[in-house]
Amino acid sequence: MKIISFEGFEYSGKSTQIKLLKDYFKKNKIISTFTREPGGNKDLEKIRKVILNSDFNNLTLIMYFFASRFALLSSLKSKGLLVFDRFFDSTYAYQKTNNEEKKLILNLIKFIEKKYIPNITFYLKIDNKSLFLRKKNRGVLNKFDQKYLKDFTRIQNNYNEISKYKVHHRKFITLDASKSENEIHQQIISYLKKWKLIK
Ligand code: TMP
Repeated sequence: MKIISFEGFEYSGKSTQIKLLKDYFKKNKIISTFTREPGGNKDLEKIRKVILNSDFNNLTLIMYFFASRFALLSSLKSKGLLVFDRFFDSTYAYQKTNNEEKKLILNLIKFIEKKYIPNITFYLKIDNKSLFLRKKNRGVLNKFDQKYLKDFTRIQNNYNEISKYKVHHRKFITLDASKSENEIHQQIISYLKKWKLIK
């Protein structure tokens, strides 16, 4: 199985890049399955609603995100390339606030079967200035996303940390989210070609 995952903070343009990639795969007849976390299938989308509307504490969130993740993985019947809109890096980035949580999350990551570890993770890294401008110009976020806005620096640092961990053979690619949509899309395509995920 070939797997790609996308990561990024709010307003990083993650959804736009996933859509551009989906269109590219369609146009080039590349067989693929797109999924997202939390959620990803009919039943788990119900859990997504519960999680994103909850006031669960951090430990509860870690458990929910991983429970939903393991359930999604066991239900996947994918052909061709599998694309995740968020995966385990998100739990590390968003829910890790101390050393105990760090150990717990890294341990839980070890329970993910190797065949589900992405070949490539694309992380769209947004800078303070772009975040500020996009926040001003775009629609409001849901309650859950809103809650994490104040944690921008912590989450950014956590992404930076997890990018340095060796998780099986996956490659972690950090992309500058302030570049134009098309420029980022072209970068993604060339990485996928370079690492032979597409021809
Ligand atoms: P999305 O808006 O990109 O679909 O993500 C939904 C929210 O869920 C976003 O605020 C990030 C958050 N999230 C976590 O906090 N931890 C996780 O493990 C995952 C998968 C998502």
